[in-house]
Amino acid sequence: MRRKLIVVSNRGPVSFGRDDRGARVVRRGGGGLVTALRSLVALHDVTWIASAMSEEDRRVAAEAGGELLEETARDGSSYRFRLVAHDPQAYDWFYNVVANPTLWFLQHYLWDLKQAPRWDRGLHHAWDEGYVAVNRSFADAVVAELEREPDAAVFLHDYHLYLAPRMIREDRPDATLAQFIHIPWPQSDQWRVLPARIRTAIHDGLLGNDVVGFHSERWRRNFVRACHDILDVDSGPVRRRTVVAPISTDPQEFDELATSDAVLAAEREIVARRPERLVLRVDRTDPSKNVVGGFQAFETYLDAHPEARGRVGMLALLDPSRQDIPDYAEYLGAIQRAARAVNDRFQQNGWTPIDLQIRDDFPQTVAAYKQYDVLLVNAIYDGLNLVAKEGPLVNERDGVLVLSENAGAHAELGQWALTVNPFDLSGQAEAIHEGLEMPAEERSARIEAIRAHVREHDLSAWVEAQLAALDSVAVTARR
Ligand code: G6P
Repeated sequence: MRRKLIVVSNRGPVSFGRDDRGARVVRRGGGGLVTALRSLVALHDVTWIASAMSEEDRRVAAEAGGELLEETARDGSSYRFRLVAHDPQAYDWFYNVVANPTLWFLQHYLWDLKQAPRWDRGLHHAWDEGYVAVNRSFADAVVAELEREPDAAVFLHDYHLYLAPRMIREDRPDATLAQFIHIPWPQSDQWRVLPARIRTAIHDGLLGNDVVGFHSERWRRNFVRACHDILDVDSGPVRRRTVVAPISTDPQEFDELATSDAVLAAEREIVARRPERLVLRVDRTDPSKNVVGGFQAFETYLDAHPEARGRVGMLALLDPSRQDIPDYAEYLGAIQRAARAVNDRFQQNGWTPIDLQIRDDFPQTVAAYKQYDVLLVNAIYDGLNLVAKEGPLVNERDGVLVLSENAGAHAELGQWALTVNPFDLSGQAEAIHEGLEMPAEERSARIEAIRAHVREHDLSAWVEAQLAALDSVAVTARR
């Protein structure tokens, strides 16, 4: 059944820019959330509310003058789109101070606490004038939309919008609100790194929803416990308003992509240059993804296996991410230095151990998915990790998935992957070796099992699970 949904996320499904000749162009939004949600518009009657992030987005928003834009998805389905143009200074505090360097770092345990963080007035200011303000403008946009479509369900996403549900609820006590958290929920002691008023507002804001969804039981359990510890509320009722539903991908989209002209062209290039055995990683340049650790693990592998030198190569396809944030810009530098260190040490006779490519090129990614022998996903912590699901779907070499035990996807796919601890470099090196040496029959059995799982638990199953939870919980829990 098609439902009326108001989808709310910071990054929208598309963003506007200009080409060399100054003409307006539409670009696909990046990252796991938008990649997964993009096909939602084919299944339901969607109005999508997102931040105007580029200059051109702001122009498009101004031209629309508060009216909804009509957009068409890749598969031809249409949806409505509203870009919220926040105050630029408030948005900078929201995105570049609170959401990413603070909440993302906290939720992925990225700090070395003996050194960081140390809060000063800057955080409090960015919270009040940035995070609260941007959540308020999202809440206002949702309330305006609910006036137009009073019976639509509101489906909020991620760590950018922890306060909006409570704000919407205050205005519209009967609204149907669900939020999905795409990143890990850490333990309550970790939340105590944040000032009390901020961690309290986050948990209270989220409980403005009827349902809060997580990728894995591990994150859900932490959330329920943190609500108890931080807000002093009973765990039972909170638990009944949560749902575990790991997000997925659209297998049909990948089937079509795999044979598209753009992917076939990219694949020809990879095939022409590929080493005998290919280890692949695909990530945003985010410290949580452990790219540097992965290069060091590959170095450990080459150290232990001289016979691999000249034959096995790593291809790292990295999408540059959040470069206005100093930690991210520095991490990109660290990635480049780490790759160079391994290459300087081992390269010989035209063979380069690590082929590092830093750009957003989706056809190239899909082409590389088809070609890997080992797919390395060694995230420090990760809400889910869609690469672990996308790669096996289109891979044509019975490639082996090496998967961090701290990625949400591990709960689903770990039984068919080689599990690694993201901090254990020699363990990762051994897993790369084991994956490359695994007998053909076992490789094929493992990847087939992953494919069957992903095809059965696809994106539409995820959406249905959310809506079913909303139907069963919304009425009883709230009132
Ligand atoms: C992750 C987050 C998303 C985010 C994406 C890309 O997948 O869960 O909310 O959109 O990364 O990050 P960005 O900051 O570029 O939107």
